Amino acid sequence: MFIVMNRIPVTPEYAEAFVARFQDRAALVDNMPGFLWFRLLRPIKEGDPFVVETCWESKDHFENWTRSDEFKQGHAQAGKLPREAFGGHPKLELYQVVQEAERGEVLASRSQPGEPGLGIVSEIEADVNRA
Ligand code: HEM
Repeated sequence: MFIVMNRIPVTPEYAEAFVARFQDRAALVDNMPGFLWFRLLRPIKEGDPFVVETCWESKDHFENWTRSDEFKQGHAQAGKLPREAFGGHPKLELYQVVQEAERGEVLASRSQPGEPGLGIVSEIEADVNRA
């Protein structure tokens, strides 16, 4: 697995506007070959950058996306944010995953109650709520 972090310094006054851009994002990356997940991470500490994390099956899959029309369309609105929204240049970091672990319950806790197709998760939640 291959992870790419794009660290974007966003000025505090524009944090909400930046998040709003992602709320109606194109979602074209979601169906790209080799795409595994995307996360938008908002900093807790003022001054730290936002991080856009994407995970791919391989570096080639990531590079294929960056060269695609889907990448262009996925960023078509990004230029609407004014220059002063950014406190510096974005920094791209590429990582190869060498080890990982995940608790089984993490999957269940991520989903919303009543989400379609996740019956098993609702059952787990019902059990937890009863306990
Ligand atoms: C370097 C300059 C970049 C800036 C300022 C930037 C900023 C943004 C913004 C504001 C959006 C929201 C969508 C929109 O407004 O159209 C967006 C979408 C996105 N960005 Fe970037 N981005 C940059 C490059 C990258 C890179 C190199 C990656 C690779 C990790 C990346 C990952 C993503 C993803 C996954 C989305 C969602 C696209 C989709 O829904 O299809 N961005 N970006």
